[in-house]
Amino acid sequence: MLDSAIPDHLHCTRTQPSSLPPNFQPPYPSYSVRFPEHASQLVMAIIGAQYPTAAGADDGAAQSTLSTFLTSPTNPPSFFEWASVTDNKGFYNLSALAYWPNKAAYEAWAEQSGFSAWWAALDTHEQEQEQNDPGWFLEVFFPTMDRLETLFNTTDAAEGCAHMGEAMSGEVREHGYWGSMRDRLPLSQTDRLAGTPATTENSHTASSTSTSTGTRVRIKIPGKKNLTVIRSGQNWSNTSPSERALYLETMHPVLTKGMDFLRDRGDEVGCYSCRFMEIVSDPMVADKSSNNMDRTFGLAYFDDLASLERWCKEHPTHLAIFGGFHQYARKLDNNVTLRVFHEVMVLEPEQQLFEYVGCHPGTGMMWMTGSG
Ligand code: HEM
Repeated sequence: MLDSAIPDHLHCTRTQPSSLPPNFQPPYPSYSVRFPEHASQLVMAIIGAQYPTAAGADDGAAQSTLSTFLTSPTNPPSFFEWASVTDNKGFYNLSALAYWPNKAAYEAWAEQSGFSAWWAALDTHEQEQEQNDPGWFLEVFFPTMDRLETLFNTTDAAEGCAHMGEAMSGEVREHGYWGSMRDRLPLSQTDRLAGTPATTENSHTASSTSTSTGTRVRIKIPGKKNLTVIRSGQNWSNTSPSERALYLETMHPVLTKGMDFLRDRGDEVGCYSCRFMEIVSDPMVADKSSNNMDRTFGLAYFDDLASLERWCKEHPTHLAIFGGFHQYARKLDNNVTLRVFHEVMVLEPEQQLFEYVGCHPGTGMMWMTGSG
């Protein structure tokens, strides 16, 4: 007996069609996170520092500053971890990915930890700015539970928002066919979740606000109707040497190509931003061997859920990964220990916050200002 990915309390009468084929049996098991029934939303924040080169981050100053806030005793995140990426302008971006159970907890943390005051003062520190001062970015998402779905191929390792779940579902019915991501989103039962096409004519030049002090620009980007955010993760830390080699030789290179395409030519498919990130060590953990580093994730922002669906279904890179995954499983006699998961959010404009201080113009949602 399969579970529905949509928990009982979020089920309602459909006015929108589902893509679930009749009598469909998924070819392999997958699971969704179950959150407490009283949870009405969650928060995911990406708080990052941007350096012209990776060496800029060697002094650990950015991580140490952000760690002080993130480990504050009042309303700290339920979970956070660190990840990095060198972007296509050669800049090194080091971010904390942090999760709170609701907006009130996030806002209380931001106030009481001193983060808000520090963040607000960043650009006025221009006079004292050191050569090695990084740019900073803050991207925060506040999805209500009806605008969130998750999929995991195993139940033994929590990732991302699963750290706030109370359990994993049983094997879910809605996966293994195109359109299943949409079918797992509770709001898709009654809403087409249409976004606004990402075109430069549609950019936020007029409505974004930017202030500059010397060379340091602070820019705020307003949210977009039904912006779609995906964090899609891969964890090969638990694989045998032969599975590890198979993953790194066959899947990882194709995945990298797909992520490079979304990063460099995302505008062709409605993708505003894509970062293919590696989990990096936590400076507060003295025993570095306890940091689990064989993990990556793609973090991408799309103008519309349909654009993300189309990329998955039509782009040769994801098609190759998708098809390759089945061959991969066959080669391993279905004993796959590679863990893959994703979390997808489709957000109202007021459920998004984007702010960039002293970052280069191709960062995150900044390309929409017309300067990217
Ligand atoms: C769906 C494999 C990376 C986006 C799937 C499915 C598989 C798969 C097997 C079908 C899942 C199911 O419904 O049972 C993989 C593997 C990856 C990978 C092995 C990496 C090694 C990514 C990345 C993204 C992505 C990086 C986007 C940033 C999606 C989406 C779906 C999907 C959105 C759902 C499509 C739909 O239901 O319409 N992937 N994928 N995947 N993948 Fe990936």
